[in-house]
Amino acid sequence: MPSTSTPADIGRAATILRAGGLVAFPTETVYGLGADASNPAAVAKIFSAKGRPQSHPLIVHVANMDLLALWAERIPPAAHKLAEAFWPGPLTLVLQRAAGVPDCVTGGQDSVGLRIPGHPLALELLRAFAGEADGRRYSGIAAPSANKFGRISPTTAGHARAELGDALDAVLDGGECEVGIESTIIDLSRGRAVLLRPGQITPARIAAVLGVEVEAPDAAAPRAPGALEAHYAPRTPLQLVAAAELPAKLSELRRRKVAVLARAEAPSGLKDVYWQEAQRAVAGYAHELYASLRRLDDLACDVILVEAPPDVPGWQGVNDRLKRAASS
Ligand code: TXA
Ligand code: MG
Repeated sequence: MPSTSTPADIGRAATILRAGGLVAFPTETVYGLGADASNPAAVAKIFSAKGRPQSHPLIVHVANMDLLALWAERIPPAAHKLAEAFWPGPLTLVLQRAAGVPDCVTGGQDSVGLRIPGHPLALELLRAFAGEADGRRYSGIAAPSANKFGRISPTTAGHARAELGDALDAVLDGGECEVGIESTIIDLSRGRAVLLRPGQITPARIAAVLGVEVEAPDAAAPRAPGALEAHYAPRTPLQLVAAAELPAKLSELRRRKVAVLARAEAPSGLKDVYWQEAQRAVAGYAHELYASLRRLDDLACDVILVEAPPDVPGWQGVNDRLKRAASS
């Protein structure tokens, strides 16, 4: 993966984080907007830069399992199994919070979201940041996706700059994010495995490691606000359309300026429609999804039509994001 940030850039970024600044950095999923998770004043800057409601908890990123133990308590065997199988990687575990985890990170809940990200630059940053200095201990970087609240997550350093520009004290550039959609979130804080947000790592793969089914959230599950509302949205209205209904929809909209994202080739003879062909396989589709939506959004069309991908488990993460993008 191409990276234009040097070890010196990473060192500077770690110093900025220790001093309470904001750094955008690449992970394998999307770019994160990072701050020292132990420093409430630094974390407050995340919320104001994003325009994010204070009640929405943040994911704490750590470099290794020893640091994880500073953030969570009564870590169940299931967490160790999933960490072994999938970390570093695109999985967030919700665990019981340790004493002393700031409320601003957890949204005041008893649980905390944690992950070891699978991007080399993110790991170098986390390692450079962690340690003790001036009587303070630095151990975790709180990082939501580096976008304004409710908007499309960034998958390049340029997207992060375009979203948050002046609010950032530094941006690390690690090229395009490989996965392209946010991590799978599994709640393990209540003695069961509950899916709070689908992602590249499917419930079937989690279940295969744990030997128990992954459950859907019930009423008592921890809130994962970002996973409940209209989200991941371009400014242009977006409609999800079944493949078979696309031709009829296009003729209905023939006087409007229309952009299409579809896995199919553009039909011949189509006029005045911007047609973006998407990858057929889910990994490639997810990798390009947010960049494609940004590109189509920039065309300032009246509507973006997205051909609905297959409704099968492997596409759950992508379908979830498309549904939310369409519902705002
Ligand atoms: O892939 C990712 O997870 C990216 C990269 C930067 O790591 N981060 C990300 O953060 O997507 P954000 O803030 O955009 O989404 C975090 C989600 C939110 O839906 C939040 O509600 C949920 O994680 N979350 C965090 N802590 C939680 C907790 N203690 N209980 C329930 N949900 C939690
Ligand atoms: Mg987000």
